[in-house]
Amino acid sequence: MLKVPFSRVKCEGNELKYVTEVLESGWLTTAQKACEFEKVFADKVGAVYACCVNSCTAALHLGIEALHVKPGDRVFVPDMTFTATAEVVRYLNAHPVFLDVEYGSSLITPDILEDAIRRYPDVKYLILVHFGGQPCEMIKKDGKGIVDICERNGIKILEDAAHAFPAKVGNQMVGSFGDITCFSFYANKTITTGEGGMLVTDDEDIYKRVKIMRLHGINRDVWDRFTSNKPSWEYNVVAPGYKYNMPDVNAAIGLAQMEQADAFRDAREKWALKYYEYLGDMEMIDLPQCKVPPNNHAWHLFPVILNEKSKILRNEFIEKLSELGIGTSVHYKPMHRLSYYQDTYNLSPEDFPVSEKIWKGTVTLPLYPSMTDEEFMYVVTSIRNVLTA
Ligand SMILES: Cc1ncc(COP(=O)(O)O)c(C=O)c1O
Repeated sequence: MLKVPFSRVKCEGNELKYVTEVLESGWLTTAQKACEFEKVFADKVGAVYACCVNSCTAALHLGIEALHVKPGDRVFVPDMTFTATAEVVRYLNAHPVFLDVEYGSSLITPDILEDAIRRYPDVKYLILVHFGGQPCEMIKKDGKGIVDICERNGIKILEDAAHAFPAKVGNQMVGSFGDITCFSFYANKTITTGEGGMLVTDDEDIYKRVKIMRLHGINRDVWDRFTSNKPSWEYNVVAPGYKYNMPDVNAAIGLAQMEQADAFRDAREKWALKYYEYLGDMEMIDLPQCKVPPNNHAWHLFPVILNEKSKILRNEFIEKLSELGIGTSVHYKPMHRLSYYQDTYNLSPEDFPVSEKIWKGTVTLPLYPSMTDEEFMYVVTSIRNVLTA
């Protein structure tokens, strides 16, 4: 029996070389490699400023703080996301207003947003998730894209692009529009630093605030303190900041991964398109709705949904695949089903019919650059056998 894990990370580029350089330099925390990583990343996504941190959660926290969200403010958040997207709102004692998503893509669409604005006209912040690596409809020629709607309604956007590097809207990279965009380099993401994240923005004030809050609210970087002519002990604290900086060891891995990012994306796309080809005729599975040209998608996840025509339920499907040595995952248990949010905001499944329907059937299939033909064929054959037995 073949074993196909849900995710497999390969560090076969310059990862070891660059990490060795860091280890030999005698300086392991945030320094030159982190600066280089920020520069390369900003250039790649077409942003003016980039700030690397130790997780995407940290980036989202710094981002929402820099947008001046205050206690009691309300923030639109998709119901179908990872808990990090919503928890950062609570860090500031603000409140998420959860929005149901689109079936098949799990995205917030312009229509969903327009409807939400009608129902909650006081909400002035939106956290968007480019779910699975597929960008939301940010810009549309008719002026009805999410960016246009937000501009018209005075809503600030924080993009949670944890899944979406590298991805594009038209010819524009995710990260090059919106107020702030945050990326994740967690181990199973499209590129990794082990743990890590990046915040990008074109706004100088946001960048300055984020840089200070990333390191205790200190008005000088550690690296600057040890390289400039001013005495290293001399610094001021201008706010009670956080400890979110990315060490150079991780940035070194990130730099090597950046060199492979396009090749990784292309390989993910190849497997994703093959899933459409090999599973497209199975009436009991709804495949993810791809609404953008395939090469604009980051293809982080391939979440399928078992529909009412399936003879078995999602959990049994997962168990059967697991018995066959195939790893899967579920993205996600929606926010309205997590007890903290359910109890704090009195949420019920009837308020989220679409994410509820997705959740009941959703299973994410293995998808990573190092998948082999043999592994891929084993996965699709096993799925067929399990669902038609
Ligand atoms: C949509 C989304 N946002 C945020 C995060 C948090 O990322 P990190 O683990 O880098 O903090 C994740 C992690 O999986 C995620 O899926």
